[in-house]
Amino acid sequence: MVGVVLICMVTTAIIWLFFKFAKAEGDFTLLAKGAAKREEVEDKVVWITGASGGIGEVLAKQFANLGAKLIISARREVELERVKAELVGKHAPHGVKILPLDLASGKESLKEAVEKAESFFPDSGVDYMVHNAAHERPKTSILDVTEASFKATFDVNVVGTIILTQQLLPFMLKRGKGHFIVMSSAAGKAPAPGQAVYSASKHAVNGYFHTLRSELCGKGIMVTVVCPGPIDTSKNLQAGSATEQKRSSEERVSASRCAELTIVAATHGLKEAWISYQPVLAVMYLVQYMPTLGYFVMDKIGAKRVEAALQQSNTYGWNLLFGQGKKD
Ligand SMILES: NC(=O)c1ccc[n+]([C@@H]2O[C@H](COP(=O)([O-])OP(=O)(O)OC[C@H]3O[C@@H](n4cnc5c(N)ncnc54)[C@H](OP(=O)(O)O)[C@@H]3O)[C@@H](O)[C@H]2O)c1
Repeated sequence: MVGVVLICMVTTAIIWLFFKFAKAEGDFTLLAKGAAKREEVEDKVVWITGASGGIGEVLAKQFANLGAKLIISARREVELERVKAELVGKHAPHGVKILPLDLASGKESLKEAVEKAESFFPDSGVDYMVHNAAHERPKTSILDVTEASFKATFDVNVVGTIILTQQLLPFMLKRGKGHFIVMSSAAGKAPAPGQAVYSASKHAVNGYFHTLRSELCGKGIMVTVVCPGPIDTSKNLQAGSATEQKRSSEERVSASRCAELTIVAATHGLKEAWISYQPVLAVMYLVQYMPTLGYFVMDKIGAKRVEAALQQSNTYGWNLLFGQGKKD
């Protein structure tokens, strides 16, 4: 009798976990954390790169709502002005500074940007640096990658991001505190067929920032690496366009939920967080915890995903594993 009860309980638990996992939009540690801790960001200075659109814009809005002071950066100043005008919160708009910058502009110019950022709020300096900007990432076969495109991707996603970090670190170390929030990607954890260079750049930042934390956590420096799968940033896409149609066929976590979970991860001090629906989340778990199986699955998917990308089809569906990479 006890055996039957135990079997029933275990089966129920497995079914419950299966459905929980099937509908999850992030890793279990992240989803167990509850809401963002407002007290960790209220009155703090948050510097966000790539804040002129997409996830960065939504992050700026949510940080402002939580009472943070903001520095928003990207190349397009007009878009930064628009974002600033839309911010609502305890310190918006007077506590919001616009700092245009190009991450590919080299050490001297980024050093100047850091000095300006630090001077905006001299009493506190920068508390959170959100490395969110990234170079454009069209999907192509690895055979078609040009030298110009991989240099441009690395200049922004890796070199510029690291230079900015190196310039900011001495200020943070002097204060004995500072928190880097790094928008990486699922492509920084698992192979991303059709996006080899983007994937390489995100693996690079993951390696850099996890190492940075291991060296400097004893000096008050925190790092949260966020790895989103497909996110819906389609707000500005033209209705009916090929990109918009393709996007709507893919299961994407909303930019707003992605930003919310990013702030949850950071304010709860998580070292890494994954944000995605299935099947990407399952693939991330497989590659992380059962790499032989994970890479086997990715090898089954790889060529089909590149083909699907070329045909403007769904590049995140189960059909890549179980069916033909058909055009949606
Ligand atoms: N969207 C997704 O599905 C997804 C999935 C996983 C990870 N992510 C990551 O999440 C982050 C945000 O993604 P997103 O989709 O919101 O990106 P996005 O819409 O492409 O926006 C990129 C941002 O980066 C800025 N940027 C680009 N080049 C720059 C440069 N040279 N210097 C300074 N800023 C530059 C852009 O602004 P300007 O053009 O004004 O400079 C823009 O604000 C990225 O790191 C991305 O890799 C996104």
